[in-house]
Amino acid sequence: MAGADTFYVTTPIYYVNDSPHVGHAYTTVACDALARFWRLDGRETYFLTGTDEHGQKVEKAAQLAGTDPQSFTDNVSGRFRDLAALLHVANDDFIRTTEERHKAGVQALWQRLVDKGEIYLGSYAGWYAVRDEAFYAESELIDGKAPSGAPVEWVAEPSYFFRLSAWGDRLLAFYADNPGFILPPSRRNEVVRFVEGGLQDLSVSRTSFSWGVPVPGDPDHVVYVWLDALANYITALGYPDEAGDRYRTFWPADLHVVGKDILRFHAVFWPAFLMAASLPTPKRVFAHGWWTIEGQKMSKSLGNVIDPRSLIEEYGIDAVRYFLLREVPFGNDGDFSKRAMVGRLNSDLANDYGNLCQRVLSMIGRNCGGEVPMPGAFTDEDRALLDRAHGLLGIVRAEIENQALNRALEAIFEVVGLANRYVDAQAPWTLRKTDSARMATVLYVLAETIRHLAVLTQPVMPDASAKILDLLAQPDDARGFASLGASGQALGPGTALPPPAPIFPRYVETDGAA
Ligand code: MSP
Repeated sequence: MAGADTFYVTTPIYYVNDSPHVGHAYTTVACDALARFWRLDGRETYFLTGTDEHGQKVEKAAQLAGTDPQSFTDNVSGRFRDLAALLHVANDDFIRTTEERHKAGVQALWQRLVDKGEIYLGSYAGWYAVRDEAFYAESELIDGKAPSGAPVEWVAEPSYFFRLSAWGDRLLAFYADNPGFILPPSRRNEVVRFVEGGLQDLSVSRTSFSWGVPVPGDPDHVVYVWLDALANYITALGYPDEAGDRYRTFWPADLHVVGKDILRFHAVFWPAFLMAASLPTPKRVFAHGWWTIEGQKMSKSLGNVIDPRSLIEEYGIDAVRYFLLREVPFGNDGDFSKRAMVGRLNSDLANDYGNLCQRVLSMIGRNCGGEVPMPGAFTDEDRALLDRAHGLLGIVRAEIENQALNRALEAIFEVVGLANRYVDAQAPWTLRKTDSARMATVLYVLAETIRHLAVLTQPVMPDASAKILDLLAQPDDARGFASLGASGQALGPGTALPPPAPIFPRYVETDGAA
């Protein structure tokens, strides 16, 4: 069973009715940073993303596009796959719910729930919101719409039901026994209150359309798209082959990252389905917030939907990844504005981190023969900075254990700030004329600090960090977290370094506007 030396993280699988936008990019990049972190920390990691291709919403989108659902989903799914590559995301798998491996797994899960008496045939009459792919009780509607604002339609059809009502107490006991199952804590409270309010049995099949996984033994029904979709987290691991390597190594998942709008499906339905099927439940569901654009909700009608491709072209992939993960506490809502993006790029990256690397590496290039300098005895100031660099992994790890990506970056950038102040205080450019041995020590301390910073920024900024580590002549096998700390693989004096090059160019407005 999955343990402390493995890490399985998932994004939601994205609906293919829509093109990829910055909200999708956000979840994927956050998961990628977490997966990269644990991989570098020595855990065997599996990072899954993919596309959710069934259901009425996708069927309607295909009709609207004048094509059949399969070619439609092939096309849009490909765009999500391309987006992952564009974002420099290192996912281990990409699942599509139209794949055979997935459909077979969904049917096996369904059959298991039937065999356990958890699914029965009845008929459904009530409200359905295609946009949310969710059923709503009359009492939940607000001004005739779903609480999310989605339009609802009346549905009356035969349906299979999952006995969700029987799982309320067991879910509450599960949340109480596993206080870290839902994060952030405010979201956890919302879910607990919802379950305390009482659960209805859940309609888990539909007959009024056919774009879905056929119900085993009753092909007039297709499996409700959320039961189908949630199962991706285990079908990608080879379920129903519970004895298979991948499933045994990685299930239960360490972390499902989801947007706040789909928390209920992950924190209520999913553990109930799993418990009912006697399968282990995931360890954590983390709900992140939503991005607005320049203060406004992102929407097609407002025409302000941001294509991640254009952001990357404008600011570069590392700056975009940094901005998304640094700007907003993970779990909160945030606003994407050009001003904030340029501010982060120019101040944190160009002025602080980039400039630190640039001035230290170019001084070494000019004054130390392009080699890692040989340090002398360390002063208290030297030790103070090195101690902070050596202690950083422990601090960052503790933040990442709680998915606090922004706080992890804050801790790293605090050391960037300290290192810049140390350069100013030690003034190696003056030492060059007065005490070149001391200059060598100062530059060594700085290079070693920069090495720590670059190793630790790899999860968020893989490309820029790799460039810095290249400039420090670090071989690939010396870039993991085992290389960090007082007992790590410190820079070897005398190692030849390549000519320095700038890492984070300042963003300069090309159209002349501020
Ligand atoms: N298909 C379902 C998920 C099934 S998982 C078993 C789905 N897909 S989605 O494409 O509509 O949304 C995917 C994710 O994108 C959700 O986590 C959602 O919260 C996120 N976002 C959509 N718009 C967003 C923003 N504006 N900001 C941040 N995240 C946003 O739901």
